[in-house]
Order: sequence, then structure tokens, then C-alpha cells
Amino acid sequence: MKNGDSNLIQKKGRPPLSTLNSQLSTSPTGIKGEGHPTLSTLTSQLSISPGTRPPTLVTSQVAVVGLGYVGLPLSLQFARSGVSVIGLDIDPSKIKSLNGGRSYIKHIPSEAIAELVKAKKFKSSTDFSLIRGVEAVIICVPTPLNKNREPDISYIVNTGKAIAPFLKVGRVCPQAAGSGNESLHHLNHNLNPNPNPNLPAGSQPSTLNSQLSNPLSAKLVVLESTTYPGTTDEDLRAVLEAGSGLKAGVDFHLAFSPEREDPGNPDSKVSTIPKVVGGYTPACLQRAMELYGKAVKTLVPVSSCRAAEATKLLENTFRGVNIALVNELKVVYSAMGIDIWEVIAAARTKPFGFMPFYPGPGLGGHCIPIDPFYLTWKAREYGQNTRFIELAGEINSAMPEYVIHRVAEALNAHRKPVNGSKILLLGLAYKPNVDDERESPSYVLMDLLKQSGAEVAYHDPYVPAIKPTREHSHWAGTKSVPWKRETAAAFDLVLLATNHACVNYQELADWSPCIVDTRNAMASVKTKPGQVWKA
Ligand SMILES: NC(=O)c1ccc[n+]([C@@H]2O[C@H](COP(=O)([O-])OP(=O)(O)OC[C@H]3O[C@@H](n4cnc5c(N)ncnc54)[C@H](O)[C@@H]3O)[C@@H](O)[C@H]2O)c1
Repeated sequence: MKNGDSNLIQKKGRPPLSTLNSQLSTSPTGIKGEGHPTLSTLTSQLSISPGTRPPTLVTSQVAVVGLGYVGLPLSLQFARSGVSVIGLDIDPSKIKSLNGGRSYIKHIPSEAIAELVKAKKFKSSTDFSLIRGVEAVIICVPTPLNKNREPDISYIVNTGKAIAPFLKVGRVCPQAAGSGNESLHHLNHNLNPNPNPNLPAGSQPSTLNSQLSNPLSAKLVVLESTTYPGTTDEDLRAVLEAGSGLKAGVDFHLAFSPEREDPGNPDSKVSTIPKVVGGYTPACLQRAMELYGKAVKTLVPVSSCRAAEATKLLENTFRGVNIALVNELKVVYSAMGIDIWEVIAAARTKPFGFMPFYPGPGLGGHCIPIDPFYLTWKAREYGQNTRFIELAGEINSAMPEYVIHRVAEALNAHRKPVNGSKILLLGLAYKPNVDDERESPSYVLMDLLKQSGAEVAYHDPYVPAIKPTREHSHWAGTKSVPWKRETAAAFDLVLLATNHACVNYQELADWSPCIVDTRNAMASVKTKPGQVWKA
């Protein structure tokens, strides 16, 4: 399906509607064979009577709530695809930047924003009443852990409260009001109304899709924030229903579609990353597929919001567990005098059954260190344990201590103690080529070094100064030291925590007497014997 194509349903040689429903409840893709189903594959399985015209579902205006690392690129992709986007955020400084065509995320160019603002395809606001005029609302707000390391869904709940009063239908989009109506009603009427077996009794949609009060004008709410299964159809639904007096699946559509943004990866584009979508009812799913079909090439429908929520948690848990495995092997192999990086490079030549993951100084970012614990918390409600997650968390969170141990060994070899040594931490961001330092293990490394009496500074071309945060307030205001020979040479040791591509590692080798490398960044440069310590 091409971007901008508003005809959702194809009719030739279709299986009956029940086929879609049975596939949605049994197979994650609904498709035999390999690869992801495309939107047209799914929609070709939705049947309408011969002779009726395809319904025209058009989303021309969408609101994206939460304009951060996920919400901003998503907004831009929708705007590029011809949908008018209203970006909503509670941070007025972000709104001001965006409306002025300025980016606050390093890897998103200002020009991309300015162009869409000028074309009147993208505007931003703190005024949630603008939701009255849109057909769909996509929520991309943070989902952190609280201080007891339990899920904090307060951002989702607060967003739900803020949007609920505006969910009542404000208008019927002109394209939808005409010829398509009949067909859609027919379609909704025929969609299998069986209760979703994945939902507990209290979460079942109470009315059939065929009873959606006005399916063409009913608004769609989609949650994208990573969270535990049940957040959409229990927590968010409850807030939206209470605040609006409406019923999900009846008066408004509700869906979950996890984001798969890979910040800093130039090959990762919102439009080309297959998108998983789960609806509260089949009609909700259909509506969400129509929305995302505008901006994303390949969609992967699943049977419920919970299946979509669980998919995202599987993806991130998979990463966390595999990183823990190589982190553990790093320590074990190092004790045996074997270099884990060499081993992974050799293993990855296997053309099947192996996928490389790389060790590091510990987990960082908004996803991998946090999301699996959303599942752990929810699993307890069902009397279940998530032992892989717990063990991976234990191994990964022990990495900074291991790195500091290597720092002590390296300094010791130079007849220096950690206490009183000058140490430069290179790379504050949690991953290369981004300015995102949330949950970065670099903070833990700096804390541990400082506690041991070291004098610590950092250099990061992406983070010129440390912003005030709740967790690391003591570092707020600290500035990145300049990258030059005199500075680097003035430190007893450089601890390489993040391997930004723009850093000249040959210069580092030329300038610094001692380097502890947690990313294998020094492998391809000329170094002196005993100068580089892998950690
Ligand atoms: N960053 C990633 O790479 C990534 C990838 C996949 C999924 N996710 C998930 O996506 C979600 C968002 O993550 P992010 O990295 O974009 O977060 P972020 O902190 O970069 O952005 C969140 C935005 O939401 C705004 N916000 C907070 N409360 C709000 C409210 N009540 N109403 C309106 N706006 C509000 C904040 O001001 C901020 O601009 C999280 O659940 C995260 O786990 C993130």
C-alpha cells in the first residue's frame, strides 16, 4: 500500500472475515510463510460483500503526545506522509523550539522540522484541547521505574486524563462521511465479535464492533510507550473511559503499537521498520492499521493490545539477556586470557543460528535496563518468576564494578592508586552517536571513581554539559572538557565508555598514557604495548 492511499480494503478472492479473526488469535503474523505481512496482506483478508465500494477511512489529522526520542521522529514521519500532525508536550521549551523549526535531538536535523512546520504539516502545542480536531492520538510518554524499581505509569495515566475530555467526536472527516460508510458498517458488523481470550473478564470490550456508535468518526487512541501487558486495556482504558464518559471499542478505538526506534542508527527509519499493532477489538486493530499504513511500510497485526505489549518486552528482554551473556563471557574469557571481541568476531561468521551482541560497561538508555522489569513486576501478579531477567539484570548491573576493577589494575601497572589519580571518562551518552545519557552507565562509573578518591572529568562531543536530573544531580553543570593533546595528556588514565564515531581514537592513543577500553574502540588504531586495557 502506498503512502497516502486511503482505500483500506481490497476484495478480490478473499477468505471470510472469520479467517482474519482466527488468524489474529492464533498466529502473530496471520500469514503463512516467511516475512512480515504488509498492510495490504492483512486488509486483503478483511472481506466485504462483492459489489460494495471499499470504505474510505482517512486519517488526516493526528496528535502525537510526548515529543521525545520516539514521538518527534514519529510525528515527522506522519507529517512527511501527508498527515497533519499536532505535537503535544507538557514541556513548553520543546514546543517553542519545534514551532521555531529547531531540533533539540542531535540526530534529528532542524531542517527536517522547519520544512514541515513551514508546509503547515506539523505544529506543536501544550494545548490538549486541540485533540478535539484530530482523528487519532498517539501517546509516546516516558515509562520509567520508580525509586523502588517498579513500573511508573504515571505519565501514561496523566496523559490519559489530559486527553480524555477531548475524545468526544468533534467532526467526521469529509472523505469518510460519504460513500464509504455503508461498507464500513458492513465490515464492522461482520467482524467476529467473540470475546478476546487474552483479556480478563473486566477488560473485555462490552459491546460489539458493529455497535461502534459512529465508527468513521470515533477517535483512535494508540499507546506506544513500552509497558507491561494490560496497561492499554486496563489502566489506560479505565482513565480514558472515566474521563470521557465514553466506552473503548464502542465510542472510541483503542490500540497499542510499540515503537522500535533505534536512535543514532542512520539505517533505522520509522517508515521502514515493521510495526507491530494490537487492537482492543478487531475494529480498533483495523483502525490502527489504517492509521499506521499511512506512514509505515510494513505492519504486523497481533491479536490484542497485550500481545503487542508483550512483543516489545520480549524484544528488549532478548537484548538484555544476550548482552548479559556476553558480559559474563567477557569476564570469564578475560580470566583465561581470551579476548571476547575476537571470539564474537569469529562466531559471527556463522551464517545461521548466531547473532552477535557486544559487551560493555553496563546497560544504559530508556529501554533495556528498564523495560524487562516491567514484565518482572507484572509477572508477580500471576505468581510467575522471570529468572532470566533477574539474572541478566544482576550481571549487567555488576559491569561498572568490573570496569573499575580493570581501571585499578591498569593504574596499578603504572604504579598509581585510583585515589588521587586524574581520570577522564570518554563518552557520557549511553550509546554511540547520540546525545541521550539517560541511565548511562557512565554516571555509575564516574560515581564509583569519585568514591574511590579519583579526580574525574568527562569528554563527550554530544553532551557539552550535564543537565540537572533527579538521579545524578551532583554532576549537574559539569562541562565536557575540550578534546586536545594537553587535556588528554594531563589525565593518568582515559576510561573509554562510549565509542562515538566522531572521536579520533588515533589521537587518543597518541595523547594518553593509559586507556581502559570497554568498547573495543582502540582495536583498529596503533597503540603502544601495555597502553590499552580491555574491560
Ligand atoms: N528512546 C528510545 O529509543 C525508545 C525506543 C523504543 C521505545 N521507547 C519508549 O517510548 C516511550 C517514550 O520514550 P522517549 O525516549 O521518547 O522519552 P522522552 O523522555 O525522550 O520523551 C518523552 C516526552 O514526553 C513528554 N511528556 C511527559 N509527560 C507528558 C504528558 N503528561 N503529556 C505530554 N507530554 C509528556 C516529555 O516532556 C518528553 O518530551 C517510553 O515508554 C520508552 O520506553 C523509547
